[in-house]
Amino acid sequence: MAKIVVIPGDGIGEEITTAAVLVLKKVAEKCNLKLTFETHHAGGTAYDLYGTPLPQSTIDAAKASDGVLFGAVGGDKWDNVDPSLRPEKAILGLRKELGLYANLRPVKVPDSLCEYSPLKEEIVSGTDIVIVRELIGGIYFGEKCESEIVNGVERAWDLENYSVSEVDRIVRLACETAQKRQGKVVSVDKANVLASSRLWRRTAAKVAEEYKDIELSNMYVDNCAMQLALKPKNFDVIVTGNLFGDILSDEAAVLGGSIGMMPSASIGECTSLYEPIHGSAPDITGLGIANPIGTILSAAMLLRYSLNEENAAVCVEEAVEKVLKDGYRTADLYRDGFKKVTTEEMAARIAERI
Ligand code: NAD
Ligand code: IPM
Ligand code: MN
Repeated sequence: MAKIVVIPGDGIGEEITTAAVLVLKKVAEKCNLKLTFETHHAGGTAYDLYGTPLPQSTIDAAKASDGVLFGAVGGDKWDNVDPSLRPEKAILGLRKELGLYANLRPVKVPDSLCEYSPLKEEIVSGTDIVIVRELIGGIYFGEKCESEIVNGVERAWDLENYSVSEVDRIVRLACETAQKRQGKVVSVDKANVLASSRLWRRTAAKVAEEYKDIELSNMYVDNCAMQLALKPKNFDVIVTGNLFGDILSDEAAVLGGSIGMMPSASIGECTSLYEPIHGSAPDITGLGIANPIGTILSAAMLLRYSLNEENAAVCVEEAVEKVLKDGYRTADLYRDGFKKVTTEEMAARIAERI
């Protein structure tokens, strides 16, 4: 019996996690898995109910589960709450509490979606990258100051910093990830300017010495942003810090035509957490048009990594591919000649194909 904690969060979070749970229930039936689901609050929704974006009960439940399926948090409604109570603190807090130091963001462009990319088909077709993003360090978690007056002028600051051990463990994971793929790791930094990046680069080189089968190269983040659009097929595994990884993965999402397609797995010291890379999409919340595939593929990653159910994971991934080949599209990927479906219908089509 595996216990899955579902945290819908805010905005489209409810719609996309409901879709993914439907698919999980179907695959559980087909593959004879015993799954239980328990829903918990986080984000602005939790702030409204309890005055905190991350109730202790949610943390405890996540820790006690076999895997967490997370939707998204945030929204304009909470833009003016105290910074320490912003909805985003929920996901940041969960990552920290669960020790989720690595965020794996696969970027695959299914053949059926090549034509949706704003880039030429020959550039994107066959793209298969894993971005390994450091998730509980760097500028996100460094010391910060919301406001101070220096020489009569207000300023605010956030400290970017990395320790050798933080870089060591994430680069190690990137090398191990690459060993199961093409064996190429690109470490992305800004070592021409930032001291923290120079330590990152030195540490990455040292770690890579232990992985003789891995080809490690370095790239500055600005160049990487360009190369991702220019020659995405040149990449196998990208390893980078928290902020650069956040930005580069949203950019990479464009390759496959929609951020709604992109899953992720956050792994670390105890329970892992699975979430699409996109946010709460306030502009389309409640319209029933959000693409649930990023969340459904995140659920597939949960089956693979947390429950060790490779067959069930592949079953979900293949069902997604089939439904796309059948021509079903949510609004973000819709073109003339295809079948437009809602979030709910997309989930039902995928469940049917399992
Ligand atoms: P966003 O990812 O929510 O939306 C960006 C654009 O992509 C929007 O036009 C949106 O409609 C579209 N989009 C996103 N997901 C989609 C889906 N599944 N299907 C179809 N279209 C989709 O980013 P944003 O607008 O910059 O942020 C909105 C809120 O989400 C903010 O409060 C932000 O802090 C939060 N956020 C949360 C997470 C998270 O919980 N992990 C991640 C990113 C942003
Ligand atoms: C993401 C999001 C989060 C991040 C925010 C909501 C804190 O953008 O998961 O990519 O920056 O990590
Ligand atoms: Mn992001």
